[in-house]
Formats: sequence, structure tokens, C-alpha cells
Amino acid sequence: MNNVNPKSLIVIFGATGDLAKRKLFPSIYRLYQKGKLSEEFAVVGVARRPLSNDEFRRYVSQSVEDSTKQELSDPSFVSRFYYHSLDVTSAASYQELKTLLERLEETYRIPGNRIFYLAMAPEFFGTITSHLKSEGLTATNGWKRLVIEKPFGHDVKSAQQLNKEIRQSFSEKEIFRIDHYLGKEMVQNIEVIRFANAIFEPLWNNRFIANIQITSSETLGVEDRGRYYDHSGALRDMVQNHMLQMVALLAMEPPIKLTTDDIRNEKVKVLRALRPITHDEVDQYFVRGQYGRGFIRGQEVVGYREENSVDPQSNTETFVAGKLMIDNFRWAGVPFYIRTGKRMTEKSTKIVVQFKDVPMNLYYRTSEHVHPNLLVIHIQPDEGITLHLNAKKSGESMKTTPIKLDYCNNCIDGINTPEAYEKLLYDCMRGDATNFTHWDEVAASWSFVDPISEVWANTKAADFPNYEAGSMGPKKADELLQKDGFHWWPLNGTM
Ligand code: BG6
Repeated sequence: MNNVNPKSLIVIFGATGDLAKRKLFPSIYRLYQKGKLSEEFAVVGVARRPLSNDEFRRYVSQSVEDSTKQELSDPSFVSRFYYHSLDVTSAASYQELKTLLERLEETYRIPGNRIFYLAMAPEFFGTITSHLKSEGLTATNGWKRLVIEKPFGHDVKSAQQLNKEIRQSFSEKEIFRIDHYLGKEMVQNIEVIRFANAIFEPLWNNRFIANIQITSSETLGVEDRGRYYDHSGALRDMVQNHMLQMVALLAMEPPIKLTTDDIRNEKVKVLRALRPITHDEVDQYFVRGQYGRGFIRGQEVVGYREENSVDPQSNTETFVAGKLMIDNFRWAGVPFYIRTGKRMTEKSTKIVVQFKDVPMNLYYRTSEHVHPNLLVIHIQPDEGITLHLNAKKSGESMKTTPIKLDYCNNCIDGINTPEAYEKLLYDCMRGDATNFTHWDEVAASWSFVDPISEVWANTKAADFPNYEAGSMGPKKADELLQKDGFHWWPLNGTM
């Protein structure tokens, strides 16, 4: 692995799309500013619409300025951006692109290292990768890598088909499947918190942990993505990837070493140990929701069925809560509760590890109850950890009071956490696939999710919409924990 200033040519398909504009160009700019790109790099934007290089460069500048809220200080940055208008099905169009890549590699002395980043609709993934091979763009003297955005299929069968197609042109080691949660600072911190602290790992099992709760809530609705989202839903959009990846990181065994393969092997084992949910059991373990009208920060917002490009009778879920059981020695009997949804009370991703109660409460006479110990991992927007303990209430006999030990990662002056895409792009340039999803993980997570989506697709949710925009989801999501004697820990202030 090359650790410094990797020399590569980045080819972005879907260069006029939302992801490129909001995430990719600003991330490349930050890497450039931090000196993490070689002086000799170039980016080729590829999309259907015709644009000149100058027009494209203005587009890139604008995207960087929108993101940094500053004028571009170094105009030479955009001079390395080139544009190619591509018809994805035309061999001749790929030939022209090939000529452009060869010319730029010569100009910028890039030794044939090519990143093909597919930031576009998945239906073209197969067509593009097969043309990249047939037209000779993958036959390069350096390395070639394919970066691919989700959704990777919409069930295990379609994912297998897609994988088969792209594997004709790229080997598994050359495929970097993005799950941007794996680029988040505090998601990456889960392993360090667990494996670098003597106080947690001995307790990290079913003897001491009562349950684990993962919540990823959003205030946004579907915005302008109704067409995609109405065929996807929260289960495919968030659970199959981001939520299950966090479960895997929390539940995996310590890897032998911190190598890509060792970590992945442990994550895959967790995904394979998830107790499969049969069609009959879906209602027992999973809850779906869809938002109706409501208020977000005082502003009235429409219900999901009234959103643009959404079927007014839509049966698509915008909220999912679930109880996952991991059938292995470490986790037998410990529920992992997950929930995620759009148009909820606040934008927040948090993990709460609830430890079992002390074996005997000595303080029951003096205080109502001793609070359970909690370890809270704040993923976003705050980044940090909080440990909830009990201590003596000052002054008053032997009463207990809950206290918190807090560490805030993004409060430290001068530390500006890099954006997930910035880290992932850099990892890809250096050939580090640790924070990307391996095919085995994709396959295992679709296998878990498929029976749930099958049942939901075939049964109309009679109670939709069943939560108000601006709330924490349907009541049934609370009942899921109440049945087990637990409740969701609140996400705000007190945590
Ligand atoms: C994406 C989903 O993968 O993750 C979106 O497609 C969702 O629907 C987004 O809004 C959430 O990401 P983040 O980083 O804002 O939590």
C-alpha cells in the first residue's frame, strides 16, 4: 500500500449529479489542500450532457465554494479537471474517453493508475464496466479500481447478478463498494473504543450487556429522491447497509490483526450469525412506519405520500425498527435494537450500550433505583462517547445520582473531522479496502433483509401513515422494546 500522495487519475461517472457536486468535488479539494494528492493528479468528469472543460471547471469551482463557503483560493486546482460527454452504450464514446485518459496520464505523468468512480444510477453499472473492459480502458500499466455507490442490487439475487457483471471486468480486490458510514470518524472509532480499552472488552458480551440500541434518525424527508426512494424504502436504503455495518462492528470478535481481510472476516461472521427472520416472524421482530404530515422545527411539512414522485397510495416504509439476535456464544440472548427513519425529531446517529443491572441494589431504600450503566457512542452530529455511571449525591446521606463522563471528539479546537467521502477516496487511492464493503458482507446482509422486504412488499400496511413528521416514529417501535422490559434511551439533552 502506498501511503503518501498516491498518483492516480480519477474518472467520475455521474459528474453532473448530486453526489459529485455535494461530496466528491469538495472532498478532492480538501485532499488537495492538505497535500494528500500528488501534485500530478487529474480528474475526468463523465456524464451524458455536453459540457466544455471550462463549463465543467466552473461547475466544480461552484461546488467547492458552496461546500467551503469561501472563494476558491487556488484556481490551479480546477485546471486539472476535464470533461467527457459519454453515451454509456456507445463503444466509440469509450474509445474517445480512453484517448483522453492516455493523454492526461502523459501530461500529468500518472503511471496508469485509474479510479473509475460510478456515482450514478445503478442500472448502468454493468453496461459501463463491461465497456471499460471491452474498449480497453481497464488494460492499463498501473492499477485499476472501481468505486461503486449503493444500492448494490435490491435483493440478494439482483446483487449477485450485478456482482457477476462487474466481476467480468474487475477482481474483488479492485472493487471498492462504498458505505459512507464506514468513513465516519466515530464509526471507525468503534473498533478502537472496544479493542484499545481494557475496561470494555471483558464486559462486551451477554454476561454484562443487556441490550444495544442503534438509532439513525433524520429530519429530512425524501427531498428530490422520491423516484428512487419509493422503490427502495428505509430497509434497503439504510438497514441493509449502514445499520448492519454498525451492528457488525459492535458485535465482531477482535480480529487477529488490523488487516483488511482479518477485520472483514470477523464482520462477515457476525452477519452470518444473525438469526434469520422467517416470513411469519417479521411482525414479531420488525416494525415499519411511514410519515404523515407534521412539524419539523416549527415548520409544517407534508406527508410522504404527498412528496414529489411518490405514489399517493405508497406502501413504502420511511421508518424501520427491528430487533436482531446474534446467535453465537458472545451474544446469545442480547437484543440489538435498530431504528432509522426520515422526518423524525432530530438528525442524530447514536449507539447506546446498556449494561446489565448490578446483581443487588444496596441503595433501594434511599433512592428510587440505580440507573443502568450506559456507554453512548455519539456518531453524529456530536462525535464522542459518554459513560453513564452512578455516584453519591453530594451532601445527602447515601443517595445515588446518575453522572456522566463525557468525551467530545469534535469539540477539540482545531480538529475538523474529515468528511467520510474524503477519507474513503483517500483510502481508495492508497488501495486500503478496510472501510469498504466486501461482496460477502453484501450477500449476507441482503440474505438477512430479503424475507422482511418480501413480506412488506406483499402486505399493505393498513395503518400508513403511522407516524407524524417530527416524531420518533410509530408507537409499535416502542412496544418492540417494552415487550422485553426495555425502552429506547432518549437521544437528546440527557444523553
Ligand atoms: C444514504 C441514504 O445512504 O444515507 C439517504 O441513501 C440518507 O437516504 C443518508 O439520507 C444518511 O446519511 P448521513 O450521513 O446523513 O447520516
